[in-house]
Amino acid sequence: MRVVCLPGDGIGPEVTAAAVRVLAELPLELELEERLFGGAAIRAVGDPLPAETLAACAAADAVLLGAAGDPAFDGAEVRPEQGLVRLRRELDVYANLRPAQREEVHLLVVRELVGGLYYGARGTRDDGTVFDTMEYRPEQVERVARRAFELARERRGRVTSVDKANMLATSRLWREVVEQVGVDYADVELDYLLVDTAALQLVLAPGRFDVVLTENTFGDILSDVAAAVTGGLGLAASASLGDSRPGLFEPVHGSAPDIAGQGIANPAAMLRSAALMLRHGLDEPEQAQVLEDAVEAAVLAAPTPDVGGSATTASFVDAALDALRSRKGTAI
Ligand code: NAD
Ligand code: IPM
Ligand code: MN
Repeated sequence: MRVVCLPGDGIGPEVTAAAVRVLAELPLELELEERLFGGAAIRAVGDPLPAETLAACAAADAVLLGAAGDPAFDGAEVRPEQGLVRLRRELDVYANLRPAQREEVHLLVVRELVGGLYYGARGTRDDGTVFDTMEYRPEQVERVARRAFELARERRGRVTSVDKANMLATSRLWREVVEQVGVDYADVELDYLLVDTAALQLVLAPGRFDVVLTENTFGDILSDVAAAVTGGLGLAASASLGDSRPGLFEPVHGSAPDIAGQGIANPAAMLRSAALMLRHGLDEPEQAQVLEDAVEAAVLAAPTPDVGGSATTASFVDAALDALRSRKGTAI
């Protein structure tokens, strides 16, 4: 199985190195190859997603990505983040799964990833007006909705679709299509929330949610809220899936320039993303579980500063590796 690693910017390379260390310890035939991406790629070849990197990703079984974003490019015409949104579109990974769990909270944000505001027409008019537009086609809504209902069936059987149907035409289309898809999933309970109320409910009563289905921009914002109420961005993983391989697996967090280079980034989000890669991208659910258990043990044994501890990225990885090895010991 070939995995392309895109370390990217800021803490991206630090957490990617952590994932490479841990993946090497699992009994899997993984071939990991690293490619240029993000700010480093702009500096080297003027493009955050060089053609060679994209070709390698398209030919791989899965892509594991650190982070894109570097304040050095603030205000620049070409930015690292453009490479990320282009890669998502090129791989057509339309369903972005962002699980958030802690104690009585077990929710999954399913975020539409290749449509909406990030990909609509944008421009500047003569009078200086600048515009971005949100556009959705019915098929774009339908395929991500189906994915959300399928996932809900394997969980607690509930989908909450989030939109702004009291104001936006795209949201009214969204609701109509989700309603239609829901007819095929009579066993799944479906309800709707407006996005402002959804944000409130995520903070006040996150335990009420199972699958939260929403469009790209709302999902970006709500998944950070979901992360915040379940331990923070240092723990939040994601899987971006299309209809065929390869999937794209990346933490919810960004390049964290405020802590980059200090060796204190929490690698849990990246390690959990690697576990999602094993589960959803490489069909290795048992090793995914082994990895998830090791991360859980390391979060308790070696918490990093973002979750109130004083461990470093490296000592977190040591703790995860200890957990893996002691498990092997028990198995014998
Ligand atoms: P961020 O997610 O990078 O950081 C937000 C806060 O969370 C910071 O205080 C940071 O230190 C902390 N944090 C994030 N991940 C952490 C980790 N693993 N361990 C410990 N603390 C962690 O968001 P930002 O600061 O708004 O954005 C920085 C850059 O990252 C921007 O250029 C942005 O565009 C980019 N970004 C990229 C992605 C991505 O690649 N998927 C996601 C979000 C933001
Ligand atoms: C995320 C990030 C990206 C997004 C940015 C960096 C383009 O915030 O993955 O959540 O908005 O999708
Ligand atoms: Mn985000």
